[in-house]
Amino acid sequence: MILIGFMGAGKTSVGRALAANLGWAFEDLDERVERRAGREIVDIFRESGEDTFRKLEHTALKELLDDLGSLKEKEKVIALGGGAFVQKSNAALIAAAKIPTAFLDADIEELWERCERQSRHLVIERPLMGDPQRFRNLYRERRPHYLKASLRQETGGKTVEQIAAELIEALGLRRK
Ligand code: S3P
Repeated sequence: MILIGFMGAGKTSVGRALAANLGWAFEDLDERVERRAGREIVDIFRESGEDTFRKLEHTALKELLDDLGSLKEKEKVIALGGGAFVQKSNAALIAAAKIPTAFLDADIEELWERCERQSRHLVIERPLMGDPQRFRNLYRERRPHYLKASLRQETGGKTVEQIAAELIEALGLRRK
């Protein structure tokens, strides 16, 4: 299954918790992009720009989905970067692979607050975070795309474990 949503939605932390609860593997698409490129996301943006990043992201997603298909490794939780599902070509690949998607949703204020906290503590540097106004505009532009996911999961004020438990229930999956 694939987790989508805006920056700060908790795709990686919820994904890890979900995978642990299910006894499934976990993969973060951004990590595959970094591994294949031999560079961190911030450096790809800084040195080569967003278009290059999107191309690398698309190739990495294609490879990941091919691996899933050929290895029959269906028991995997995948976290996408915030812009991945918004790209038509990526959404088409996911639809063709028939993998369910869950949109992790939260208020824009909470998303900003989570990203701010992570950037203050130098946990994650996000090239597209910008200022609150830019962040909000990008979110508004992307939200209709996120709503095309198989299901929407509210995350506001909930713990990672709580969100994982609600997703397991909503998807009708079984804990390990
Ligand atoms: C992006 C979000 C990032 C990362 C890249 C671009 C975006 O991932 O893929 O910086 O376009 O929103 P997170 O959503 O995990 O921050």
